[in-house]
Amino acid sequence: MTTSAVVSDDKIPNNVHLSSDKRLQRALEQWLPNYLSWWQDVGPEGFQARDVYLRTAISVETDGWAHFDYVKMPDYRWGIFLVPPEEGKTIGFGDHMGQPVWNEVPGEYRNMLRRIIVTQADTEPASVEQQRLLGKTAPSLYDMRNLFQVNVEEGRHLWAMVYLLQSYFGKDGREEAEALLERRSGDQDKPRILGAFNQPITTWLDFFFFTMFTDRDGKFQLYALSESGFDPLARTTRFMLTEEAHHMFVGETGVDRVVARTAQIMQSGKDVEAEGGVPLPVLQKYLNLWFSLSEDLFGGEISSNAADFFASGLKGRYKEAQYDDHKVLSGDYRMTVLEGGALVEKDVPLRTAMNEVLRDNYVEDCQRAVDKWNRTLDKHGQSERLVLPHRRFHRQQGLFSMGNGVWFDPAGRRIDEAAWLAGKAAWLPSAADVAYVESLMKSTIGPGQIASWVAPPTRGINGQPFEFQYVR
Ligand SMILES: [Fe+2]
Ligand SMILES: [Fe+2]
Repeated sequence: MTTSAVVSDDKIPNNVHLSSDKRLQRALEQWLPNYLSWWQDVGPEGFQARDVYLRTAISVETDGWAHFDYVKMPDYRWGIFLVPPEEGKTIGFGDHMGQPVWNEVPGEYRNMLRRIIVTQADTEPASVEQQRLLGKTAPSLYDMRNLFQVNVEEGRHLWAMVYLLQSYFGKDGREEAEALLERRSGDQDKPRILGAFNQPITTWLDFFFFTMFTDRDGKFQLYALSESGFDPLARTTRFMLTEEAHHMFVGETGVDRVVARTAQIMQSGKDVEAEGGVPLPVLQKYLNLWFSLSEDLFGGEISSNAADFFASGLKGRYKEAQYDDHKVLSGDYRMTVLEGGALVEKDVPLRTAMNEVLRDNYVEDCQRAVDKWNRTLDKHGQSERLVLPHRRFHRQQGLFSMGNGVWFDPAGRRIDEAAWLAGKAAWLPSAADVAYVESLMKSTIGPGQIASWVAPPTRGINGQPFEFQYVR
């Protein structure tokens, strides 16, 4: 591709003095055409020429950081924003606690830091690839617009991470930035780094559960990185969280609207499938799938890497300020482990349990959302309930990974492989469930139209009504 790329303050809204940083400008100018061709190849298919009512980040002010207007996705102004530096800021945890934050990469932690940034960065383009076909089966224009909003913001998050790689990591940073455009979600030879980001997203039900559970892993990872002693990473991820909130809104309210629609049909005494709804047991299976895949993203329960990330001051805990002890040189974490095939309680050094500590925060937040969905069921007179499966259920990472030859049912009870195979179709989407949900996916984008399987939202975007022409 020979498109000449111009990188200017005008084209790339930023607060990093881009126009006066020639080295960064040059690196981004080389990367930009590759980024745009990646976006054309594996970004939202079929809608690149449409006008979409999108939010663009234009500053870091709490009020007025976002601007809404019609824009074609390839013309989206991918910005680079960091929250402003704080005078006299010090490292808030780990072995370097109390020392001034780093504004350059600390040499001893260079590889670790690069790995942390690349792993986070890789998830951003991966999700765009996973969601690329969904525009064709949008349940409403409102939903289609939200999908594209999420997609362009994940694109911007990639920019944010690439900015860090190119500004602070020299040649290997530039190579990593290129490699981020070369890996592909689900590809046999060049897959994305993390499991859930190689999982196909073929339906909007997957999309809603993905933005609910998998983007929410992102929220907790970003919070942990926003505590980082490497200040450019802390300031970048802090700003990404403002956008991430919308992604989780899309997921949480998306699932809630599906639940509401199903409950309405049940309340009317009609058959859910005959009315084109998603039966509650099927919803439960999709919930089980995406929650368990997303839990794996937090990594092993006992992890020396997690301990190193914390000790070095590169990755903290969710809202580190809520804790009293930020060094954690002593102290244990009580967790359930497998010993000789039996589940036993054991104390492990807290630093090595940092993945599990973050997963605790995550599970709690997920439970809050499930409680909300259950209130929706209640409101429509239904006594059935959705439940979060146990964290040992269907794991592919960590102590309870099925790869270790252990299986657990949704309640967390240990079962043998035969029982797992026998129960699987009742716990996770079966081929028949997937075929049924796929059969519901039809483009429903007339003004004010909504698909049969989801209730309309209670309000539109940026004060606009649901019927608004979000994509034209
Ligand atoms: Fe993101
Ligand atoms: Fe996101």
